[in-house]
Amino acid sequence: MRRCDVLVIGSGMAGLMCALSLPEKMKVTVLSKTPLPAGSTYHAQGGIAAVSSEEDSVEMHLADTVRAGAGLVDRNAAMEIIKRGKPLIDALKSYGIPLAGAGSGTAVLEGGHSFRRVLHYYDRTGRFISRRLAQICRARGNITIIERAFAINLITASRMAPEAASGPGDRCLGAYVLLEGVVETFLAGETVIATGGAGKAYRYTSNDDSTTGDGIAMAYRAGLPVRNMEFYQFHPTCLFHPDYRNFLITESLRGDGARLVDHEGRRFMEMYDPERMELAPRDVVARAIDSHMKNSGMDHVYLDATALGEDFLRSHFPEVTCGVLRAGIVPWETPIPVVPAAHYCVGGVVAEVDGTTAMKGLRVIGEAASTGLHGANRLGSNSLLEAGVMGMEAAKSIHGGIAGQPEVPVRGWFYGRARPLQESVLVDHSWASLRSVMWDYVGIVRTDKRLRRALRLLEVLSEETEEDYWNLLPSVELLELRNLCTVSTLMTKSALRRRESRGLHYLLDCPDTSPTPRDTVLRKGIS
Ligand code: FAD
Ligand code: SIN
Repeated sequence: MRRCDVLVIGSGMAGLMCALSLPEKMKVTVLSKTPLPAGSTYHAQGGIAAVSSEEDSVEMHLADTVRAGAGLVDRNAAMEIIKRGKPLIDALKSYGIPLAGAGSGTAVLEGGHSFRRVLHYYDRTGRFISRRLAQICRARGNITIIERAFAINLITASRMAPEAASGPGDRCLGAYVLLEGVVETFLAGETVIATGGAGKAYRYTSNDDSTTGDGIAMAYRAGLPVRNMEFYQFHPTCLFHPDYRNFLITESLRGDGARLVDHEGRRFMEMYDPERMELAPRDVVARAIDSHMKNSGMDHVYLDATALGEDFLRSHFPEVTCGVLRAGIVPWETPIPVVPAAHYCVGGVVAEVDGTTAMKGLRVIGEAASTGLHGANRLGSNSLLEAGVMGMEAAKSIHGGIAGQPEVPVRGWFYGRARPLQESVLVDHSWASLRSVMWDYVGIVRTDKRLRRALRLLEVLSEETEEDYWNLLPSVELLELRNLCTVSTLMTKSALRRRESRGLHYLLDCPDTSPTPRDTVLRKGIS
């Protein structure tokens, strides 16, 4: 058994900011199922939305966030996070991560923002942040980073001793972790889930392969409430190319004048949102593209950045420019073929701004959490802000005192008669089926019929996967599939519950928005 004061599961912006902000007297272990730098953080292009100019204000940023969130933003949580943007940017600067737009250089504009407030490092913001934070963490004597360590399940007092209270009275004691083929027991005074989103539930996504909703599934299994899982954000512009599927074309390009056009060169946003055009919020732009593709029978549209010219593209958007050149497209000569793709998990485990959850000893931060900041639709570049602020706030409140550990005997992992997975094809096939089900039936535009069909198919996949989970030795591919079955089912059930269209949830059977906004909350065994 391994012991530490704080166990951080995940090494993106949220996890690393939390680890770094903890006092050096605390023994901190950071687990990452992938080598560092890792997660969606590494791929972030646009930047961090934060108020840094006298002409801007936290009230304006809040107003934009509330407008995008379509009636479901928790104003108090949003204000808490937005006003901590400046301290976050200052902390990043102190770690050697100065962002353009904060003091020097120009901030960029993204859809739904009424002000140029996205602070960035060219279009390589996430890469810069991840590398630097990982480097500083590695140099800290109190932080141990363990790569290729896959957290399987939370260890809770109620599971170890049936007489211990379950539900809100329960306590998290740590996690079982798959490390080099063996399941190890990690015990901690405080466990922090920072495992990111679940984009791999969909066939087309901007996320990398590690984004499988593990933390959300783990927390749900342990009895925590999850909120608003029906709201999955689709980024309007991912590169449409057979060999480069996950490559994002940052929204800042549209902020600087790139236009969406169809195969006839028509600027089709005129038909869908003539006022805001390409800079309408993401749900509006993604739906417009989806609808235009369906109406025209085309499988993609184009982002025309030719007017920006080679010099500007190379100097301001080196990441996008190199990426599309690699795919054989010269962006100052020809429009870039693009499609919408699953991008951000707006829902998550119900948590306060400092990550506090309904379970003692467990915090959830970053994309895996639902604080209420995003409501029914996330405003671009508000998520790195949320991840960084939550990491810092979680550390601050953990510093304030770790609750005492109950005297509960903890068992090691029980292997039973499990045998090794011999037919990987079964897992691969189920995963491919799941991603098709989610893309075709729980996508940008939904109907009751498609959602009900998705739920039935997911039930079959979940049943088969659960059987394998109990009979086979744990493997990363099987565990990820199991977690994706859980989060996809949560998304579909939540979508069926919402009898209206709001924000990212667009249901053809109920196209109107209800006058009374409500959260969808699901909890194991209760709903
Ligand atoms: P992540 O950065 O995703 O990190 C999750 C970590 O958890 C990884 O280290 C992973 O290995 C680890 N992990 C997962 N499961 C397990 C497990 N079972 N055991 C152990 N480790 C595990 N947002 C913005 O605000 N601005 C942007 O410009 C922006 N651009 C984006 C561009 C792209 C292409 C993508 C995909 C997202 C973008 N986003 C952007 C969203 C933003 O990057 C993410 O919301 C944010 O980085 C999430 O941070 P996180 O720390 O919560 O999770
Ligand atoms: C982008 O750069 O377009 C992505 C920004 C985000 O997801 O917040």
